[in-house]
Amino acid sequence: MSNVKMDEELQIMAYRLESKAPQDVLVWAIEQYGSSLVLASSFGAEDVVLTDMLHKLAPTIPVFYLDTNKHFPETYETRDRLQERYGASFIQVLPSLTLEEQARQHGERLWERNPNLCCQIRKVEPLQRVLSGYKAWITGIRREQSPTRAGAKKVEWDQKFNLVKFNPLADWTYEQVWEYIHTYDVPYNPLHDNFYPSIGCSVCTRQVMPGEDQRAGRWSGFEKTECGLHK
Ligand code: ADX
Repeated sequence: MSNVKMDEELQIMAYRLESKAPQDVLVWAIEQYGSSLVLASSFGAEDVVLTDMLHKLAPTIPVFYLDTNKHFPETYETRDRLQERYGASFIQVLPSLTLEEQARQHGERLWERNPNLCCQIRKVEPLQRVLSGYKAWITGIRREQSPTRAGAKKVEWDQKFNLVKFNPLADWTYEQVWEYIHTYDVPYNPLHDNFYPSIGCSVCTRQVMPGEDQRAGRWSGFEKTECGLHK
């Protein structure tokens, strides 16, 4: 992602923060952006780590989730356990169309025929809407997740949504994520223990088989590796 919209000071900080720990990146993000900073959570392994870190550093930073209405029951249960653990209330961001309205306008089971349009309606447009109220967002993307994420920086300009993007775990491995979860006993989605390393909507996510990569279970059967939040 290009850094054309980052001013010089931000570019220098981005360069310095690249070698720092996730918590250092978060501390700087909090100092710099305060109430204009938000964490995007799908309640996946990376996001529960960031939720725990943020809770320890600045519990008032808001956390939102894009509620596609099609998440696994385990995902909603994980949301509830996290809210209880951290005494937090996560911001629910809904699509402008209900599932019934979507079916009326675009036909039943759109995700099976046109997953890109479905992601656009249920994730990308709602994300655009919520991010317009902030100056910077925090995500859980990591470089090793996919070739499309290999170039992710810890601090970058998000050209698609026009704000600063923090990826504090960009250089972490999957093992480091799990070490953190176990060390601090962070609540996590139990589907991860059942061969779901990457979890999206229930209708578009399957288990991965031995030898497959971590995102093989997302939009399986389609030439699609991203839903449009991160490209
Ligand atoms: S996705 O674009 O393919 O869905 P992935 O599941 O790998 O992304 O998650 C990467 C990051 O995107 C998460 O760490 C989180 O910051 C953000 N994200 C993904 N899905 C959601 C969601 N439903 N709500 C909020 N943030 C999300």
